[in-house]
Amino acid sequence: MSLLTAPPANRIMATQLFTPIARDLVAVERILNTTLESSRPGVDQLIAHLGYYKGKRLRPALLLLTARACGGVESAHHTLGAVVEMIHTATLVHDDVLDSASIRRHVPTVNSLWGNQASILLGDYLFTQAFHLSATLDDVRACRIIGKATNRLCEGELHQITCRGRLDLSEDEYYDIIDAKTAELTACCCKLGAMYAGMPDDVIANLTAYGQSLGLAFQIADDLLDIEGVEAKAGKSLGTDLEQQKLTLPLIWLLENAPKEQCDRVRSILTATGNHKREALLPELRSAGALDYARSEAESHAAAACAKLECLPASPERAILAMLAERAVHRDH
Ligand code: IPE
Ligand code: IPE
Ligand code: MG
Ligand code: MG
Repeated sequence: MSLLTAPPANRIMATQLFTPIARDLVAVERILNTTLESSRPGVDQLIAHLGYYKGKRLRPALLLLTARACGGVESAHHTLGAVVEMIHTATLVHDDVLDSASIRRHVPTVNSLWGNQASILLGDYLFTQAFHLSATLDDVRACRIIGKATNRLCEGELHQITCRGRLDLSEDEYYDIIDAKTAELTACCCKLGAMYAGMPDDVIANLTAYGQSLGLAFQIADDLLDIEGVEAKAGKSLGTDLEQQKLTLPLIWLLENAPKEQCDRVRSILTATGNHKREALLPELRSAGALDYARSEAESHAAAACAKLECLPASPERAILAMLAERAVHRDH
């Protein structure tokens, strides 16, 4: 339980880059806190746990920084910032069940404290609260965009679970999965930020593409963290993809490009029981150049994201959006 009092170290990335939207993020927090309240005994404890459960707030920050880079933040942006963070948190609560994870955001996961059943329902509750909150805007555009992005996100998680154990997963299939489960929501954030700042269609499309490429870079870096990261820094259980035979880019690349002998060795580590897959696979992935390959892929998606920002005039917020894309690749949390 001492973990519950641990400082939310994974907000470090935020402190400087989010300065121009600091007040907007406070408004988002207020909406999150007032929306997610329950006086029902038991339920209030689950909701209270979410208070310890603060991540980087990357998705609301993307939405708000995009809006500021486009000219201004309206109250609708605050509401939408809370909506996208609730959707993201719902997916994490469910994801930790899928990945049998015990730590998230530096504290014990909901599944480790209350079990899988309560986690499924808490995730559902966060989704439904998010949809209800987006409906309070009385603007069908937001509901449609958020509904579509969430559909694709859930489809991506479903697709990934059906591919579990498939050692022949291709790079194209991997990209299809991460595009859906991660990039769709980051793209949605930038789209909403630009749309509710009154931007024309071509600018909205470019900023949506920025969010999509950033999301791909972010997830590839996250998959690298799962393999070579440090749990105390990342604040979450690592190695879960490998333990569950969910193949990510470095392994896919190795199995497609390394000599047969090495591929055979890697396949037997992946399928054996009772080993520590992360420790056993790390030297193989390093020596094959698979981690470098994945890092360079993430870097090219980050560069593609930055190029899309050219549609906007130069501003401190545009520069921060570019930095966020670059930092998405080189992060330890
Ligand atoms: C984690 O996202 C899930 C992925 C899409 C990789 P974040 O790393 O943004 O999680 P929090 O919100 O900071 O905890
Ligand atoms: C997180 O996926 C959930 C979604 C992207 C929907 P991962 O399983 O890849 O991320 P972490 O590493 O647990 O945060
Ligand atoms: Mg996970
Ligand atoms: Mg997962």
